[in-house]
Amino acid sequence: MLYTMTLLVLGVGYLFAMIQVFEVYAGRDGKPGLSKTDLVIAYSGSHSDTRLEASLKGAMKGMLPAQEREIIFGWIHMNGGVVHRGGGEEEFNKVVKPIIEKRCLTCHGGQNPHIVKLSNFTDVSRVVAKDTGMDVFSLIRISHIHLFGLTFIFFISSMIFVQTYIHPMWLKTLLIATPFIGILLDIASWYLTKIYTGFAWVVMIGGALMMLVFATQWVVSMYQMWFYKGPPEL
Ligand code: HEC
Repeated sequence: MLYTMTLLVLGVGYLFAMIQVFEVYAGRDGKPGLSKTDLVIAYSGSHSDTRLEASLKGAMKGMLPAQEREIIFGWIHMNGGVVHRGGGEEEFNKVVKPIIEKRCLTCHGGQNPHIVKLSNFTDVSRVVAKDTGMDVFSLIRISHIHLFGLTFIFFISSMIFVQTYIHPMWLKTLLIATPFIGILLDIASWYLTKIYTGFAWVVMIGGALMMLVFATQWVVSMYQMWFYKGPPEL
């Protein structure tokens, strides 16, 4: 009964964890569902345009003449695309602010809380900040939580699973080792995705391995506890 109840509650917990993962990461690339791109954006940032550029090439294109748009793009790409607060602000006030005041503030002056406010340098900085994904300190915080938490989950579930009857032995061993390797692969890849975006695949593979093994351990343990009589030779 202890094992059954523990597996039941852990199973529900795992479901909620999967919903949470989906809620947090799916759709970041603008397409529904969870993809490699969503994870790349989460861990290493969007490598395409800043929000301001994307909107001026898209929905906001008609709001200003092309040559004024080029002036704003020029300002964004000064200093190698990093809008430094010091020098960037001076230049902003000189060349960008007049354009925004003339063309944008009728809608972006802060009157409507659902439209991004662009009335000063700080507001505009927010839509041109380079998106570099989750910062390392946040990653460290969630790393230690996951390392401890997932180890507890798989230790408990594997302690139940070791008592099942499974042959060949290597298969059982593999089913016990895999989730722990999955945890390490998954978490290491959060950091590695910042360096090389291909590691987003490893994040997905690590997560998928953990989920598959958890489901297998769960089903086999439950089935053998309640229905399986064991092979005749036992
Ligand atoms: C007629 C009103 C209007 C004017 C003028 C206008 N905008 Fe917008 N803008 C909107 C609305 C409404 C939205 C939000 C709707 C959306 O996200 O599609 C928006 C969204 C944006 C966004 C946010 C896009 C995102 O990623 O969420 C940016 C950046 C932006 N506008 C920049 C500008 C700039 C720069 C100008 C001036 C050149 C400008 N807008 C002029 C109405 C306006």
